Amino acid sequence: KNKITIKTLIEMKERGEKITALTAYDVQTARLVDEAGVELILVGDSLGMVVLGYENTLPVTMEEMVHHTKAVVRGTERALVIADMPFMSYQTGVKDALVNAGRLMKEAGAHGVKLEGGREVLPQVETLVKAGIPVLGHLGLTPQSVHQLGGFKVQGKDQLQAERLKREAKELEDAGAFAIVLECIPAILAREISESLTIPTIGIGAGPYCDGQILVTQDLLGMDANFKPRFVRRYVNLHQIITQAVKEYITDVKMQNFPDEKESFSLSDSVNKTQLY
Ligand code: KIV
Ligand code: NA
Repeated sequence: KNKITIKTLIEMKERGEKITALTAYDVQTARLVDEAGVELILVGDSLGMVVLGYENTLPVTMEEMVHHTKAVVRGTERALVIADMPFMSYQTGVKDALVNAGRLMKEAGAHGVKLEGGREVLPQVETLVKAGIPVLGHLGLTPQSVHQLGGFKVQGKDQLQAERLKREAKELEDAGAFAIVLECIPAILAREISESLTIPTIGIGAGPYCDGQILVTQDLLGMDANFKPRFVRRYVNLHQIITQAVKEYITDVKMQNFPDEKESFSLSDSVNKTQLY
């Protein structure tokens, strides 16, 4: 299989082919989205909210990121696997950034890392890139700064903010980032930024003009009945489908319809033929 590299993504931007990215936190999801054909799989620190039940991404630890990234790497053959650097694994300095990004690459097998922020993280980006670690930037609504931003809000709406975001995108490119995630900014601003950069932009809630799109896989699958931000498109209502399946299982067990004879063993059956955990 043709493995996706950061070079592939830059070439896609050059020929105007949109980049597709999705999150995965486990081996099954990684296999599914990799085989379906996305170019980039992000082990997002959104796993803190989506699979660990935290209020926001701030409590996510390096141990958790390493643990989940390992699983995703095992399930991926083609896509580029990028791991999020969790809160306080890089803000504390270039040395910490290098040590922690190194763990995600070396221990967990990620192909690169993502970190949030603009001017304040340029030294970290430069240091990682110099060490040979591909870095994905992340501007706009940066969830690790939720308390500073005063909530999950669209960013870059006034002229001053917009100018700062444009400047920081260019600075991240110059620092060596291979692409930048733009989260929750006006479509028109994302377009300007995308056109001004050589490296691709990957949008989430940033309109149609980005060079690629990313979503949380559970969101496009409709896993959470109560979570549907404006920028998400649900392609299936898995919440409903799974609930229905589980209810049928419960009924079948109660009614003694499950397991039936074919699903049970007789004395003469060979257990060896059965796939077990
Ligand atoms: O953690 C995450 O899933 C992300 C994407 C939404 C960009 O950072
Ligand atoms: Na994230």
